[in-house]
Amino acid sequence: MSELNVILLGPPGAGKGTQAERLQDDFHLLHVSTGNMLRAAVEEGTELGRRAKEYMDRGELVPDDVIIGVITDRLQEEDAQDGFLLDGFPRTRPQAEALETALKDLGRSLTATLLIDVPDDVVVRRLSGRRVCQKAGHPYHVDTNRPKHDNVCDIDGSRLIQRDDDREETVRKRLQVYNEQTAPLIDFYDERGLLKRFDGTRTPTEVHDHIRATLATLRLEDEI
Ligand code: AP5
Repeated sequence: MSELNVILLGPPGAGKGTQAERLQDDFHLLHVSTGNMLRAAVEEGTELGRRAKEYMDRGELVPDDVIIGVITDRLQEEDAQDGFLLDGFPRTRPQAEALETALKDLGRSLTATLLIDVPDDVVVRRLSGRRVCQKAGHPYHVDTNRPKHDNVCDIDGSRLIQRDDDREETVRKRLQVYNEQTAPLIDFYDERGLLKRFDGTRTPTEVHDHIRATLATLRLEDEI
């Protein structure tokens, strides 16, 4: 079966993590979330975590040289060989160019970049109600995506918490950073014929159905 190498692109709170959780099961893909990797590094107090924390707390991007090596190494590991879902990477043009070069060197290529579109006011509403599990960052929402048992993750049983960067002021900064530094990647991937757009204001299940159908078609086309 052909490998699916996919980027999930979109503003903070677009639903990238929510969709990645579902799609990794559908297509047996490795979910690589740079946000989750960085938060784990902060929690563990590693050198990477110490460097990343100050940027994350301010809602800014960690420097390209910090994150590029982490991801290009991760994509060479055994469990990434049958396809991957990148969530939160790339976020700048240098990151996108580094990914393109790294995949070329490995004789691999991107299948598609999935843009989940959501307006700013929806982002602010969603992120103020988001809760994530302490262990792996599985996302929930106090109104629209509640766990089966209050404050407990359905998947791994760990406690649900609010992320430090989900305060409204930091969310607005993250949106500004997205619009300035990450949104230009929409044209970058469109010019390469890789961009697929999805309406992220639909329900999580509708967005999932739409993306799943698109990826299934892309895989089929690749096999013909
Ligand atoms: P990261 O963790 O990647 O944050 P983000 O991109 O801002 O994305 P989020 O995790 O906030 O949102 P999401 O789109 O995954 O939405 P979710 O599914 O949770 O990055 C954090 C920080 O790390 C950055 O600010 C930066 O400092 C650093 N960083 C990370 N990668 C980096 C990189 N490559 N370079 C430099 N720095 C980097 O959903 C949100 C909420 O909405 C949830 O409550 C969910 O239940 C709900 N929801 C989801 N879908 C729907 C729907 N369709 N309808 C209604 N509610 C929904």
